[in-house]
Amino acid sequence: MPVVFQENLFVGKVAFFTGGTSGIGLGIAEYFAEMGATVVLLGRNAEKMEAAVAAIRARGHKAAGFAGDVRDYAALEAILGQTREQHGEIDMLFCAAAGNFPAPVLGMSANGFKAVVDIDLLGTFNTCRAAHQHLRKPGAVVINISANHAHVAYTLQAHVCAAKAGVDLLSKVLAMEWGPDGIRVNCITPGPIDGTEGMKRLAPTEESRERVIQSVPLRRMGTRQDIANLAVFLCSDAASYISGAIYQCDGGQSLSGPRNLGS
Ligand code: COA
Repeated sequence: MPVVFQENLFVGKVAFFTGGTSGIGLGIAEYFAEMGATVVLLGRNAEKMEAAVAAIRARGHKAAGFAGDVRDYAALEAILGQTREQHGEIDMLFCAAAGNFPAPVLGMSANGFKAVVDIDLLGTFNTCRAAHQHLRKPGAVVINISANHAHVAYTLQAHVCAAKAGVDLLSKVLAMEWGPDGIRVNCITPGPIDGTEGMKRLAPTEESRERVIQSVPLRRMGTRQDIANLAVFLCSDAASYISGAIYQCDGGQSLSGPRNLGS
């Protein structure tokens, strides 16, 4: 359910999203566009990016997009520079690009581990670092999308656990270093969010979905709207004194402890 926030809250604001062409990133972007923001979506797949941008525009909202990989620092620099030229300073930056596949440590190569760490952790560093000169100062908000994996161990997810734990602490360091510029940096750690590529990979069968639901105290998967609602709050003036915070949005799932995906 969309929460009722002030209509047109983000009119005149620019929001940039890595991982903005699907899943949680797109869910937040669609909601921010509805609330008046110009949303700029970055994704690796040009066709998916074009379709996502066209769908948002078809609903009468403002959207633009780029095809690119967060692992490519030079490309990111160019894309963020073009975003600034075309739309103005960036008010809200979302690092939502992520990669995942389930495999035990002995079933993933060093390159497999690196691929996920490079997308999730290095990609977040790259995006934030390249964006800093284009962020509105004071006033910009950075939101990094982490995961419950940052706080509890998951078997078959060594790469994601290591990367997301890094994303959480990177966000806190950024909050300290960039606070004096008037930039707030926070993290959202989603639990199991229905319909995302991640959940398709981690809970591909009805039985595994049911196990996930039973691990959530609220006994349901989250929705992309659940995450978007929190993102709106964190980007609004209601959160103007919140920085360096990690917000779990997981129905309480992390309270049920480490997860053994193999059983
Ligand atoms: N099990 C074990 N290893 C795997 C694997 C799996 N299921 N899938 C990929 N790998 C390994 C590859 O074998 C390769 O290692 P190698 O060179 O030693 O053989 C390494 O991971 C990189 O794979 P590649 O396909 O070249 O990387 P990529 O950069 O194209 O893709 C991934 C990155 C692997 C994360 C891919 O799953 C991806 O693109 N995911 C994006 C979508 C996604 O995961 N969404 C969910 C977000 S929560």
